[in-house]
Amino acid sequence: MDNYVRIFDTTLRDGEQSPGATMTSVEKLEVARALARLGVDIIEAGFPAASPDDLAAVKRIAVEVGQPGRAEGSLPVRPPIICGLARANKNDIDKAWEAVQPAARPRIHTFLATSEIHMRYKLKMDREQVVERAHDMVQYARSLCADVEFSPEDAGRSDPEFLYLVLGEVIKAGATTLNIPDTVGYTTPEEFGALIAGILQHTPGVENVVISVHCHDDLGLATANTLAGIRAGARQAEVTVNGIGERAGNTSLEEVVMALHTRRPAFNLATGIDTAQIMRTSKMVSNYTGIVVQPNKAIVGANAFAHEAGIHQDGMLKHQQTYEIMRPETVGVTHSRLVLGKHSGRHAFKTRLTEMGVVLDEAELDKAFGRFKDLADKKKLITDADLEALVADEFYQPREIYALDGLQVACGTMGMPTATVRLRGPDGQLHTVAGIGTGPVDAAYKAVDQIIQAPATLLEFAVHAVTEGIDALGEVTVRIQGRTPQRAVDAQKELEQARTYGGHGADTDIIVASVKAYLAAVNKMLVATGTFGTDGERTAEVGVTARAN
Ligand code: KIV
Ligand code: ZN
Repeated sequence: MDNYVRIFDTTLRDGEQSPGATMTSVEKLEVARALARLGVDIIEAGFPAASPDDLAAVKRIAVEVGQPGRAEGSLPVRPPIICGLARANKNDIDKAWEAVQPAARPRIHTFLATSEIHMRYKLKMDREQVVERAHDMVQYARSLCADVEFSPEDAGRSDPEFLYLVLGEVIKAGATTLNIPDTVGYTTPEEFGALIAGILQHTPGVENVVISVHCHDDLGLATANTLAGIRAGARQAEVTVNGIGERAGNTSLEEVVMALHTRRPAFNLATGIDTAQIMRTSKMVSNYTGIVVQPNKAIVGANAFAHEAGIHQDGMLKHQQTYEIMRPETVGVTHSRLVLGKHSGRHAFKTRLTEMGVVLDEAELDKAFGRFKDLADKKKLITDADLEALVADEFYQPREIYALDGLQVACGTMGMPTATVRLRGPDGQLHTVAGIGTGPVDAAYKAVDQIIQAPATLLEFAVHAVTEGIDALGEVTVRIQGRTPQRAVDAQKELEQARTYGGHGADTDIIVASVKAYLAAVNKMLVATGTFGTDGERTAEVGVTARAN
């Protein structure tokens, strides 16, 4: 058995399925690029049968990220495998193949449940039917694509003897990777490790395939279970950035990678991940999905490398390893690094962005440099984190139907908080409205709602400073929901679920950042609901609820 663990990232599929994690196709493409730079081996880019938009997004990733990079470029020379999910039916498999086919290294991932409860109540199929369908659909997928992964859904609660049988049959049908999901996060590390060991011992032909693990975090055991599976012999781990995913989420990429990296002597296993890209990718996913990373989250939480207690600080000063098992720089935490200032020129700016893996064309660079100069006027020390926030704010935004053109607020302990908002609409016209609210943000959001006439329920609002200091750039992340939400197909439950939209904004003024974030989310909703056509004309109304506050 080799000592390389393949990292299969499913942020864009299982991660995006989590409530509120909806990303635009441009955002998905940026995340896929970031994942390629991070060095993941396989990108599960989506579930193409879910909708024509999903198919198009996966195809675009196959075309743009699934190709070999140039040696001097920002993408790896050997591209990641681009994978599409399919239920075990010909229509789904055809759609997945259509989407991933353009990639240099395509993969079809098909799945069928094997637990008694899923077979009886969800599939309404008996064991023989499940074995036959799994075999036939893997064989069909294999007739299209040389790389086929099969998952027995809810394997964690399946009868192991039955699993050996199904897995043996799909190996005969041509499966190249067998992924073992603990779909509902039910198992313990001992049980899950034993399940993988049993599969490796009893499945006929298993020596010719890669065994993969895919765990959910319902009991907070996803990382422990994944590592137990790897110890037992799995050589692919299915993970998501920040652990986002169904319900309590999936196994987090950063936790598995850093456990293998930091405890290398204990595992003696390697991954292809460039760990210095972890923090950057984590922030991008959080910004795009609107799912804020909890401060005490391992590896990527804001407090992951903070030392508060006096005894700890004292220890750290005496020897850094007293309380730190990994250096923050190893995962790309560069918050205290001064990179540029007021007098830095365009060349230095471009060089630093390139070093950070941000590639802009000349026009974009001009725009970004202008923003940088404005920021440098307000803020003396510009760090990598500031640059990342600036670039995300300027370029990684959904299509702008309405753009912020001006904002003025009056607030304090006297009178009514008031905000005057000026937006540039899709027709290029300016719309100015004043709103009154419980605070300046609420007042500004009410003014935005009055202009756009698509008010939304604000589900989450989070603000944090990008760097330390009074002049720090403020970053705001929001999540909203419309009254007649778009429905999205959930691959595992075969149900529709309500859609929510995340938005992100950055500015030295947090009220401005708040309005930018809200607008980003509302713009995303307007695009997703087809409220505006490509000509910028309004085509439909968005039904929506009034905000709770
Ligand atoms: O959790 C699960 O079972 C899945 C499968 C589709 C692999 O996500
Ligand atoms: Zn899953």
